[in-house]
Amino acid sequence: MLPQDAWIWHKLESGAREIFEASGYSEIRTPILEDTAVFTRGIGQATDIVSKEMFTFLDRKERSLTMRPEGTAPIVRAYIEHALLNVAPISKLYYIGPMFRAERPQKGRLRQFHQIGAEIIGTNSPFADIESIMQVHAMLALFGLKDFRIKLNSLGCRADKAEFADKLKDYLKDKAAGLCDDCRSRIDKNVLRVLDCKNEGCGSILTGAPGVADNLCGACGEHYEKVKLNLRSLGIGFEETKNLVRGLDYYTGTVFEITHASIGAQDAIGAGGRYDNLVKEMGGADIGAVGYALGMERIIISLLSQDIAPGAGKKVFIATLGDEAKLEGMKMARNIRDKVDMEGLAVLTDVGETSLKSQMRSADKSGADIVIIMGEDELKQGKAIVKDMSGKVPQAEVSIDAIAEEVRKRLC
Ligand code: HAM
Repeated sequence: MLPQDAWIWHKLESGAREIFEASGYSEIRTPILEDTAVFTRGIGQATDIVSKEMFTFLDRKERSLTMRPEGTAPIVRAYIEHALLNVAPISKLYYIGPMFRAERPQKGRLRQFHQIGAEIIGTNSPFADIESIMQVHAMLALFGLKDFRIKLNSLGCRADKAEFADKLKDYLKDKAAGLCDDCRSRIDKNVLRVLDCKNEGCGSILTGAPGVADNLCGACGEHYEKVKLNLRSLGIGFEETKNLVRGLDYYTGTVFEITHASIGAQDAIGAGGRYDNLVKEMGGADIGAVGYALGMERIIISLLSQDIAPGAGKKVFIATLGDEAKLEGMKMARNIRDKVDMEGLAVLTDVGETSLKSQMRSADKSGADIVIIMGEDELKQGKAIVKDMSGKVPQAEVSIDAIAEEVRKRLC
């Protein structure tokens, strides 16, 4: 994160915290390093994350440690270790922080990236799924993101998943030759993942494949119907996506993914779902859970691809000569900060004793959009010079009292 991008990170972090706190979620912070078994057991040996993407190493005592590739397994580890079930029957937790995956870096795919995530642990109710999806929807709207899509599917319970895996294997049995190398090896290791392969050849083989959600048992089918029905009642649009299966083994039941065209078809800006067996499998109680994580870098790419709030990231530089003008410049900065309510707007003053020329150079370097110049002469007349650094608007003399309004007019 470079200094010029800091404002947008703050916007996401503070917006997310606002929504979490207003919804009764508490923050949880887990360590960057965990025992490797937390992930191999939690996420699953056959997943891409565990088999290819973890930063794993032995420490000096030959213990295997891993830099967390995601937040859910460590949270469940902490939830069990600290007996959070005794604190409340349902825990609503959130986190914001870095995750690490050894992937080939490219646009929107980093080895250290950041997630905003939430988990509801302690219930099987479809209303928890609905709350998670509603929260994602509200958060992206608060960030100002337009045109995101929510894709929805249900994998069913463990038994449904196993039954479906057999059906899919059967379907693929005599078609393996047409699949890509990855998918051929997935047939035995993790057959569901074949469904979301982006390879064209695999795609055409899969058009006739059975759908996961068509294979649900009574209870899972009912759960899925309730999620869809209530999302519709809440006016939250979603697309049922037959081959959405997700890359982590812990998912059961509802799964969802949020996409945005700016990232490309392959990558989601966020994803989540139910993991009703994970707490028990990691040594805790038999309780259901659901959650999601948004990728901050990908959301930022998406936000920057559209017209974000005018004024966002804009800068005003006040260049002054002489002590009196400097003091007036500081008052002016305070006034602009108070009166111009514009997200990400920064007002810089000169705190050195440098010449006007060198202040103009600093203003240019700082990326200022507007420079306000005030020397002794201007001060005597109660005016300042407002200069647009892009050169699009002519320079003007403006009364000191009207400067805040002038800045608002020019930047909004
Ligand atoms: P995930 O789908 O692996 O799910 O990651 C969630 C989001 O993190 C992705 O949709 C993407 O936006 C972002 N992300 C993942 N890998 C990278 C990367 N290498 N570079 C940039 N962004 C990335 C999970 O992590 C689950 N723990 C989500 C969850 C929480 N499910 C239930 N609770």
